[in-house]
Amino acid sequence: MEINGKTELYGVIGNPVKHSLSPVFQNVGFKSLGINAVYLPLEVSKERFEESVRGLLSLENLKGFNVTVPFKEGILKFGDLLSEDVKHIGSANTLKKTPEGRIEFYNTDWVGFLNALKELTDPAGKKVLVLGAGGTSRAVIYALKRVNAEVFLWNRTLSKAEKLAQSFGVKIIKNLNNIGVFEIIVNTTSVGLKEDDPPLFDYKKIQAHQVVYDVIYRQTPLVETALKKGAKAQNGLKMLLYQGVESFKIWTGKEPPIGTMWRALKRAFTENHARKS
Ligand code: ATR
Repeated sequence: MEINGKTELYGVIGNPVKHSLSPVFQNVGFKSLGINAVYLPLEVSKERFEESVRGLLSLENLKGFNVTVPFKEGILKFGDLLSEDVKHIGSANTLKKTPEGRIEFYNTDWVGFLNALKELTDPAGKKVLVLGAGGTSRAVIYALKRVNAEVFLWNRTLSKAEKLAQSFGVKIIKNLNNIGVFEIIVNTTSVGLKEDDPPLFDYKKIQAHQVVYDVIYRQTPLVETALKKGAKAQNGLKMLLYQGVESFKIWTGKEPPIGTMWRALKRAFTENHARKS
C-alpha cells in the first residue's frame, strides 16, 4: 500500500511495544483489503502518558489504536463512550475515533480469548480453572461467564482472587492439588514467560481429557507438557489474532482476511522466536 496524504493512522500504544506482533498482521489486513491505512507501534512512556494520548488524539488522520500494558485501565478517562464489555471488565484494548471526533472504547480481549478457546473446545457449561487474577484474568473470566461456564479461580495472592471472585461471582480454589476435576485450565499468569519459571503445579498431572489454554504466546512448559499428556493445548497467539481481528472490524466495519492475517502473524512469531534462540 502506497502511503500518501490520505493515509489513515492506527497503532498500538503501550510500554514496551517494540516486540508487538500487532503491526505485522494489522498492516497485512489493511493491505489485503486495499484500505489506505497504516498501523504503527506507538511506544509511550508512563511519565508522558497523558500528553502523548492527547497529542495522538488531536491528529486528524489518527482513527484508532489498540492499548496494551500498562495503559488499559488508565486510558478510560479519555473516553466519550465505554462499551458494556469495557464497563464490566474495567479495561479497554481498542480505541476508535469516530468521524465526528468522539472517542469510543471497546474490549476485544475477551472475545479474542473465547474464539481461540472455541477452536479447542466449547466451554459452555464446563468446569474451568482460571489461574491468575490480573487484568487478563478479568477478560477471560468475563468471556467464560458469558457462555455459562462454571468458573473456578486460583491466584498466588488470595486477596486479589477474592476481590475478583466478588465482582464476577466465581468460586475460589486455594491450592492446585486436585486439578483433575477441571475440564479446562486457563493460565493468565506470567508464569512460563521465562523458560526457567518454577511451574504453578505438577504439569504431569494433566490428563488427556483436559483442555489447556495459555495466554502467553510462546510454547510454555504448561502447554508442552499438556500436549505430551495427550491433552488439547494451545498458546496465546490465536487470542492475539482474534482480539486484533475484532479491533479491525470495529475500526473499518469490514470483514478482515483472517487466514492471511494469521499466516503473517505465525510467520513473524516463528522468525522472532528463531532469532532469539
Ligand atoms: P496481566 O495484565 O497480564 O494479567 P497482571 O495484572 O500483572 O498482568 O497479573 C499478573 C498475574 O500473574 C497475577 O495473577 C499474578 O499473581 P499475584 O496476584 O499473586 O501477583 C500472577 N503471577 C505473576 N508471577 C507469578 C508467580 N511467580 N507465581 C504465581 N503467579 C504469578
